[in-house]
Amino acid sequence: MAKNFLTLMDYPEKEIRKILELAKKIKAGNSEGRLEGQTLAMLFEKTSTRTRVSFEVAMNQLGGHAAYLDSRTTKLAEKETLKDTIRVLERYCDAIMARVYRHSDLEEMSSISKIPVINGLSDLYHPCQTLADLLTVIEKKGKIEDLKVSFFGDCAFNMGRSTMIGFSKLWANVFLVCPDKAKYLPDPEFLEKVRKYVKGNVRIENDPVKGMKDADVVITDKWISPGQEKEEKQRTRDFKKYQVSSELVKHAKQGFIFLHCLPALRGYEVTNDVIDSRNSVVFDEAENRLHTEKALLLYLLKDD
Ligand code: CP
Repeated sequence: MAKNFLTLMDYPEKEIRKILELAKKIKAGNSEGRLEGQTLAMLFEKTSTRTRVSFEVAMNQLGGHAAYLDSRTTKLAEKETLKDTIRVLERYCDAIMARVYRHSDLEEMSSISKIPVINGLSDLYHPCQTLADLLTVIEKKGKIEDLKVSFFGDCAFNMGRSTMIGFSKLWANVFLVCPDKAKYLPDPEFLEKVRKYVKGNVRIENDPVKGMKDADVVITDKWISPGQEKEEKQRTRDFKKYQVSSELVKHAKQGFIFLHCLPALRGYEVTNDVIDSRNSVVFDEAENRLHTEKALLLYLLKDD
C-alpha cells in the first residue's frame, strides 16, 4: 500500500521528527536524495500561491517534475469522477498532491490510489503547512516541547485542527483561542480522540487575553475561508476581539514569535504592526514550505 499524508493524526511523533530532521538537512544544503524522472500530479479545487509553487519548485529541485491540474480546466469540470481521475493519474505519475473542499474526497482518493496521496489542504486539515510551522518554531525557539502555542481563530477548521495535532504531538501546550460557539471548536469526539493520542496539553480558551498570556508562539489564520463567504459578517463580528493586534500581543511572552500560513487579510485577523513586526516570522514560515515538502516527498517516494 502507498504511504499517504492526509493528516498528522496518522503519524507518530518519531516519524514527524524524522521528516523535520530531513528538512533541516535539506535546508542546510545537504543532498538527501533525488526524484529523477518522477512526477507529482497537483490537483487543485481551490486557488493557491504557496502550495502550488513550493511543491512545483520542490519537485524541480529534486530532479523531478510537477503537473498542475485544476478542477475547472480538466475533465473534472465535466463530471468525470475523482475515482476515475485517480485511476488515470496513477498510470502517469508517482504521487498526487490534492487541495480539496471535502476531506472525505481525499480519503476516497487514497483508498483507491496505488501511489501516495498528499493533502494540500482540505476542510479538516493542512498538514503540509503544519510541518513548515513546526520547522519554523524549532529554528526560532530551539524546541517545541513545553512551549505555549496559542492559535487564535476558527479552531474547527483546517489550520486550527492541524496546529493542535502537530504541536501537541511534539509536546507543546496548545491553546485553542476562539469564541464560545460550537461551530468554531473541533467536535467533542475528535477533541477527545486527539487528547488521547497527543503528548502535550490541548486547552480551549474563550478569553483572548488569557489565551495570549505568556504565549511563546502566536498563530492565526483567515476568519473566512473559500466556501464561507456567506458567513462573512457574522464571522467578522464573532472574531473581532480575537484579532492579533499590538494591544493583545502585549500579553505574550517577551520574544514571542508570530506565525500565519498566509495569505493574511491585514486588518482582520492580524494588524499590520504585528505581521510586520520583528516578532513575525511569516516569510521564513512560507520558505519552510519548500524545505519540508522536499523532505516529505523524499520520505514518501524513496525507499528507506
Ligand atoms: N498557506 C497556504 O497554503 O497558502 P496557499 O493557499 O497560497 O497555497
